Amino acid sequence: MSTSASTSLDGKVVVVPGGTGNVGEGIVRAFLKAGATVVVPSRSQSRLDALVKLIGPELGANLKTLAAGYGTFDDADQLATRIVKEYGRVDHVVASVGGWWMGKALWQIGQDDWQKVFVDVATSHMALARSFVPRLADDGSYTTIAGFSGQKPYPAAGIVSMQGAAQLMMREAFSAELKGQRRINDLVLGPIINRSRPGGDPNWLTADQVGEAAVGVARTPSIADEHVVLDTVEDLKKTLARVAG
Ligand SMILES: NC(=O)c1ccc[n+]([C@@H]2O[C@H](COP(=O)([O-])OP(=O)(O)OC[C@H]3O[C@@H](n4cnc5c(N)ncnc54)[C@H](OP(=O)(O)O)[C@@H]3O)[C@@H](O)[C@H]2O)c1
Repeated sequence: MSTSASTSLDGKVVVVPGGTGNVGEGIVRAFLKAGATVVVPSRSQSRLDALVKLIGPELGANLKTLAAGYGTFDDADQLATRIVKEYGRVDHVVASVGGWWMGKALWQIGQDDWQKVFVDVATSHMALARSFVPRLADDGSYTTIAGFSGQKPYPAAGIVSMQGAAQLMMREAFSAELKGQRRINDLVLGPIINRSRPGGDPNWLTADQVGEAAVGVARTPSIADEHVVLDTVEDLKKTLARVAG
């Protein structure tokens, strides 16, 4: 990252729901490197403690953890209200919520699987977006992290694909209704090299590279209402070539 990029978000408040996760960790690290104050809410204090250790004390001075969920509209509203009260503003949100799941064909899915993988995750994404988008700074942005399986069915992971498709359409519907009042984008990721899967194809992005792309999207006014596809390192290069200097 260039020197200007490394200081470009000084004083900005960035909320990363899902920041405790495999991909979220890289997003949190990249925004901290860019100078932002990063607020990470989580349902679990122990996952927040683990994130603080992963980030380390040097970079972690501006990492603010919050043991609070956002699985219902009320919880997300309370979270957004609390963050605006405590930090005075929200500039950017990057929602990296929900993980991978597979093992059953659609006709084998039980009610519990459906609730956990589709309903809970879709509800959290909607709850976050409806609470935070109206509270964003005028020049702020909202980015939702999605996966390739939301655009292409993945056998034995159909409910992950269905949730991803709903998430991508949520973003498109927000864009259609906001009509440019706020910037909202989604990053459509391929497989990501991360702390739980440290090896992989050299063309795959790392979690830190997803973070680099998310920072670039947040600070580039011309990237609005887009599916930003990040399947490979080549895609990342194309995205970074577009970001504001
Ligand atoms: N890992 C990959 O290779 C990959 C590839 C393509 C796309 N993605 C996308 O990246 C995003 C994050 O994936 P990840 O691999 O980082 O997942 P992960 O490690 O399982 O992390 C998921 C995060 O979501 C949060 N979360 C909140 N409510 C949740 C709920 N009801 N169910 C599940 N998680 C919930 C968790 O926070 P707390 O538990 O702390 O509250 C956790 O921080 C997802 O949108 C995924 O589709 C990942």
